[in-house]
Amino acid sequence: MVDRNGWGRDRPAPTGAPHSPPASFVEQANVSDADVYAAFEDDWPDCWERAAALLSWDEAYDTVLEDDDAPFYRWFPGGKLNASYNCVDRHLESGRKTHAAIRWEGKQGERETYTYRDLYVAVNEFAAALRDLGVEADDVVTIYLPMIPELPIAMLACARIGAPHSVVFAGLSADALATRMNSADSEYLITCDGYYRRGDAFNQKSKADNACLALEHDVRTVVVDRLGDELPHVLGDDEWEYHALREAFAGETVAPVSRDAEDMLFLMYTSGTTGDPKGVVHTTGGYLAHVAWTSHAVLDVKPEDTYWCAADIGWITGHSYIVYGPLSLGTTTVMYEGTPDYPDRDRLWEIVDRNAVDIFYTAPTAIRAFMKWGPEYPERYDLSSLRLLGTVGEPISPRPWNWYREHIGGGECPIVDTWWQTETGAVTISTLPGVDDMKPGAAGPGLPGIDVQVVDETGKEVDPGEAGYLTIARPWPGMARTLYDGDERYRTEYWTRFSDPDADEWRYFSGDTACIDEDGYVTVLGRVDDVIDVSGRRLSTMEIESAITDVDGVVEAAVVGRSDGRTGTDIYAYVSTDGNRDATDGVRTAIVDNVETTIGPIATPTEIVFTPELPKTRSGKIMRRLLADIANDEELGDTSALRNPEIVGEIQTESGDR
Ligand code: WT7
Repeated sequence: MVDRNGWGRDRPAPTGAPHSPPASFVEQANVSDADVYAAFEDDWPDCWERAAALLSWDEAYDTVLEDDDAPFYRWFPGGKLNASYNCVDRHLESGRKTHAAIRWEGKQGERETYTYRDLYVAVNEFAAALRDLGVEADDVVTIYLPMIPELPIAMLACARIGAPHSVVFAGLSADALATRMNSADSEYLITCDGYYRRGDAFNQKSKADNACLALEHDVRTVVVDRLGDELPHVLGDDEWEYHALREAFAGETVAPVSRDAEDMLFLMYTSGTTGDPKGVVHTTGGYLAHVAWTSHAVLDVKPEDTYWCAADIGWITGHSYIVYGPLSLGTTTVMYEGTPDYPDRDRLWEIVDRNAVDIFYTAPTAIRAFMKWGPEYPERYDLSSLRLLGTVGEPISPRPWNWYREHIGGGECPIVDTWWQTETGAVTISTLPGVDDMKPGAAGPGLPGIDVQVVDETGKEVDPGEAGYLTIARPWPGMARTLYDGDERYRTEYWTRFSDPDADEWRYFSGDTACIDEDGYVTVLGRVDDVIDVSGRRLSTMEIESAITDVDGVVEAAVVGRSDGRTGTDIYAYVSTDGNRDATDGVRTAIVDNVETTIGPIATPTEIVFTPELPKTRSGKIMRRLLADIANDEELGDTSALRNPEIVGEIQTESGDR
């Protein structure tokens, strides 16, 4: 094993046997011409006009890209448009007012359908109400709502009047909400009395109240009554009830405010590895064009489809692919409030069957859970309406990829493994399902027009199959424009490490490590902060994890480094297996064998700890930091972001017993 670049390897990451998309899919695909890559290349950056052409503009832009002040790029400058007009009004004008825009599936089995006309009425009335409360263009409105229809309605109402929204995931704490509102100087809050958690009423308003108490400025609050008599609440001064406002402004309309393409559409906070959360700024023109284009080209969304992205709107995935992407294309977007296992583990498949969902997009962590529960749950339903599947959020190894295709996709559906980030705004790496073969375990090439490069420490591109830093060498329309708390932090976090400002050469650094194979397919290895140094070699934790999860019976694995007290690091693996299997020595041996054959003995875990579940954040990411604390017998850091805090004690006991 040659160690040229420090990752202890110089060969392609293991991927499963490739699959071609079925001819029946290609025939109907929105994009099926392989020339699209060359067409974008030959005509860059004007190629991005194809994305802009999916939108309705009030005024044409002067030019596609302005790069005088890199890395502060401007897309479609001079253009004017309104996002709420693009997502709502124009579909009424095209004769589709009775078409379903949102199909909402509530936690208690409630169902609501909003046609584009219904959505238009709701967005207008609420926009009128917000204006009356004093919201003006450029005021940041914070939205702290669970997955109820009022959430996208509030977002679109803000967009209509030119007020950027900042959606804070409903499961975050009062402190987290206060930090975000303070950082954005946000004087308006839209929240609710509470919501159901596994059938119990849970008080959201008290969290919002605590956050507001911690703020230095006054806040005007709108409260959605989600729970009615189940959770009575009293409105204080500067508080209004959503439904009462809707009634007070019944029938009112508000002309959509024409926004500059570069005006902020929203802020989305994402946690940095250190310090305060980063307020990522997305703009109206470039963002909307990029999400519309990728919904069209990657997710193959058509207006007549029923499309379901099973994410939460509180994260970027939901912003881009539950709200702005699908609605800008005039399709029907399914919005699901609940969890996949309540009331039973077949809940998602019942929804797919009943709504005849065409496209389903979820995260690998969910797919691994489906795999663990077993195929009997999807087998209860008719899933033949599905045409395309997608995944996002983490690398997916070949085994769950193949399981997804087999048991959810009927062995037929293409799968798009989409790599992107809060900062990229929209998908940047993926196969085009109507054009490219799929390789399980590799996301795919950079999309047309996206110049993805893997480089070494010096910023030089590495050879195919070698690991390095995942960068993007050209700007793209959906990219974040800056961080709300400052241009300088934006420049340092993303544009310093591999750029050469003196030569005016700019390269975006994603924070991920990856390798690219001979065909240009990218396999993401992990975050730079997920690298462990073992005997002077840098090993990617995700690469070891992938070798572990490929073992039959293993569902999930997390790998962390444990300092051996001298100079070295030992590898500790935390592993959960499927229900039918005990953590037998058979699995243990198979794990060791597979790690040794796919990576090498250098990567063999010193300890393998079996646990029923791994500790996860509310957005579903494994909390490796916590496992590292446990492995190193250190005091546990902050666990407030955990979805399953009860598992921590179990893992500690399990580790102690070993
Ligand atoms: C990080 C971004 C983009 C929406 C969800 C997460 C990881 C994302 C993939 C993928 C491997 C992936 C990366 C990235 N990631 N998609 N298909 N394969 N890794 O948004 O919270 O901003 O996280 O998620 O590490 O940097 P986010």
